[in-house]
Amino acid sequence: MKLLARTACLCLALALTWADSPEDHASAAPDRCVEGFELDAATVNEEGIPYFFQGDYLFKGFHGNADLANETFPELDEHHHLGHVDAAFRMHYEDNPDHDHLFLFLDHTVFSYYQHKLEDGFPKNISEVFPGIPDHLDAAVECPKPECDEDSVIFLKGNKIYQYHVATKAVNEKEFSSMPNCTAAFRFMEHYYCFHGHMFSKFDPTTGDVHGRYPKEARDYFTRCSKFSEESDHVERERCSRVHLDAITSDNAGNMYAFRGEISQQYCF
Ligand SMILES: *[C@@H]1O[C@H](CO)[C@@H](O)[C@H](O)[C@H]1NC(C)=O
Ligand SMILES: *[C@@H]1O[C@H](CO)[C@@H](O)[C@H](O)[C@H]1NC(C)=O
Ligand SMILES: *[C@@H]1O[C@H](CO)[C@@H](O)[C@H](O)[C@H]1NC(C)=O
Repeated sequence: MKLLARTACLCLALALTWADSPEDHASAAPDRCVEGFELDAATVNEEGIPYFFQGDYLFKGFHGNADLANETFPELDEHHHLGHVDAAFRMHYEDNPDHDHLFLFLDHTVFSYYQHKLEDGFPKNISEVFPGIPDHLDAAVECPKPECDEDSVIFLKGNKIYQYHVATKAVNEKEFSSMPNCTAAFRFMEHYYCFHGHMFSKFDPTTGDVHGRYPKEARDYFTRCSKFSEESDHVERERCSRVHLDAITSDNAGNMYAFRGEISQQYCF
């Protein structure tokens, strides 16, 4: 029964009661605690730290202010006509030559970063690096076996999805009719999230099915803010607010864990 599953579930964003950081906000930088998230792209970096792209800005982790994305990825600026980051994912397949590379997609181009440096020859056209994948993507997310039938990257554009098999480069095109069009997709704790507007939905990467009570307000789950939106679920928040997380880390498989005292627990969104 659902209630049981939910009680067992520790919600990261809701866990924290500490106040907003007092640091000054850059004037034009979005404040995710006030305005919420409206993401263009989301991924984890090589160290498993979540990166959330919004306009010219990049939020690192679950709290704190945004930085200009070009401070972390200066080369994006040399191609400013390309606009914002459309999609991002981390290749995380040990037998792949691009293991732990971070791929950022802008218009028809793709940037590959490894250990915080742009790889030689990049940016390249998407069609060159990921044949069969269209330009102007909405979202991208890695999908390892067995969550997908093969180690894959899922590219999303409109209501089309392109499952790209990293070993064979074969592309499987599908339609996820039950899922909203995503502006960003994010794999976290072996779950898959589609962001749309200020909201997100958890989806099955093989079918696009959304189970459970979605969409939910992204800010309430993917940020640690002291304030929560009016619409958020008070009961769920209350239950989760008893949980205190001391640290978050990720393992080699890219899974993330929250630590409470000496006990590590997975939590859900
Ligand atoms: C980053 O982008 C901002 C806004 O577009 C610009 O003013 C700034 O000069 C850029 N910084 C770097 C390091 O390129
Ligand atoms: C990349 O794509 C652009 C626009 O589609 C095209 O003009 C250019 O020739 C392509 N470059 C390469 C190296 O294929
Ligand atoms: C989703 O994308 C498709 C194009 O692939 C478009 O026709 C449709 O209107 C979009 N749906 C919404 C709700 O924006």
